Amino acid sequence: MPNDASIKIDGKEFPYPVMIGSEGEKAVDVRNLRKDTGYIFYDQGYGNTGSCESQVTFLDGDNGILRHRGYPIEQLAEHSNFIETAYLVIYGELPTAKQWKTFSDLLRANSAIETQMQRVFEGFPKDAPPMAMLSSIVGSLAAHYHQLATNNFEKDLQQFDLAAAMAISKIRTIGAMIYRHSRGLPFLHPKDLPFCDNLLHLMFSEPYQDYVAIPEVTKALNLILLMHTDHEQNCSTSTVRMVGSSGANLFTSLSAGINALSGPLHGGANTAVMNMLQSIHDEHDDGTRFIEAAKGGSKSNRLMGFGHAVYRNFDPRARVIGQACDVVLKKLGKSDPLLDIAHNLEQAALKDDYFISRKLYPNVDFYSGIIFRALGIPTNMFTVMFAIGRTPGWIANWKEVASNPKGRIYRPRQVYTGVVKRDYVTIAKRS
Ligand code: CMC
Repeated sequence: MPNDASIKIDGKEFPYPVMIGSEGEKAVDVRNLRKDTGYIFYDQGYGNTGSCESQVTFLDGDNGILRHRGYPIEQLAEHSNFIETAYLVIYGELPTAKQWKTFSDLLRANSAIETQMQRVFEGFPKDAPPMAMLSSIVGSLAAHYHQLATNNFEKDLQQFDLAAAMAISKIRTIGAMIYRHSRGLPFLHPKDLPFCDNLLHLMFSEPYQDYVAIPEVTKALNLILLMHTDHEQNCSTSTVRMVGSSGANLFTSLSAGINALSGPLHGGANTAVMNMLQSIHDEHDDGTRFIEAAKGGSKSNRLMGFGHAVYRNFDPRARVIGQACDVVLKKLGKSDPLLDIAHNLEQAALKDDYFISRKLYPNVDFYSGIIFRALGIPTNMFTVMFAIGRTPGWIANWKEVASNPKGRIYRPRQVYTGVVKRDYVTIAKRS
């Protein structure tokens, strides 16, 4: 294994140290490249750029491996639940019984949204996009709890446990309020219930009748949120880190992450998948038209729920969720024609040269919507559910940035390709 690398530019060779991650990930440390050579690396989309060191999640896209703090996602899916995995991702270890109680108590004590904050909803029309509401209201947590969210790393870290618990618990409550606001339903108060039961209560209880979740439903919700807990340096997590690197507080950084997640190529893909499956169903199609359109190379016609920026293999989360779909539907005594369509579409794409040659496989979003649908969650809420699930990962990454004494503000460079210097012309002289 080399212990350094060299880059030859303009006939001169410059040595750079090689870094090896704990799982063997190799990188060349080029922090001094521009200073040494006057050059920068051009890496559009950062596909070859390590923007940070992180200890939260290990992802091997070639082999379809995903581990949080060393634990394989498949083991967490089988033995853990969303809140325990959230603790693991944020604090680095599975909680002891005492830590579990403290964390659960903190989540419970911070689950409600104060009346003043509830009024923010009055400014939104019923049909406002759920993710736009979510990012605004999470952003307003920074205004509401400004003593806790100070834009000062040291002070924010002293209050981190409380801010983190607030974020996890309140984003769940806000998500449920968005659901009710969109339907003109009155808001409900959180109860003394486990996290996922409370989410179902906040969404589906009636003022006159409590929603009582059957264990299969809570289990499925736990699984699907857990599957979204963290995913290395994806677009929204990198956004949270970038915003956090300026010293911005946790709530402000999370609000930015939520906006990044809303795009159809990222968290919005689960909604797009469901719309695609529904359209195939409504038009009694076999999906060929979506597959053929996707092969045209246009970004707006991609096969939604397929492909990934780093996986060149099955997304392990898709495997777990795909298998869970069948089990959950069976346990709930439901059948869903969209699940059959999804299975057929997956098989057709996996046999198609276009998808084979580009190593495009189903990702986490391909099957997650089927489970959300079986739980009674409407399509326009899917990305909000993704955000509730991803919150612990964003928090863990924000903490790494905030607690790094040697951290720098994120500031990529660019290759300018615009107009070169010219002189100002008054309006009368412009043609
Ligand atoms: N349908 C058709 N073609 C595709 C797709 C797709 N879903 N995904 C990638 N390609 C093509 C792409 O156009 C490129 O073609 P060519 O080599 O001819 O230029 C080739 O495959 C390689 O693309 P890539 O470099 O692997 O893809 P990327 O890193 O630019 O984009 C992605 C990754 C996830 C944005 C993309 O696969 C995509 O748009 N998928 C559909 C949307 C989706 O399901 N997103 C959810 C991602 S997982 C959860 C999350 O991160 O939120």
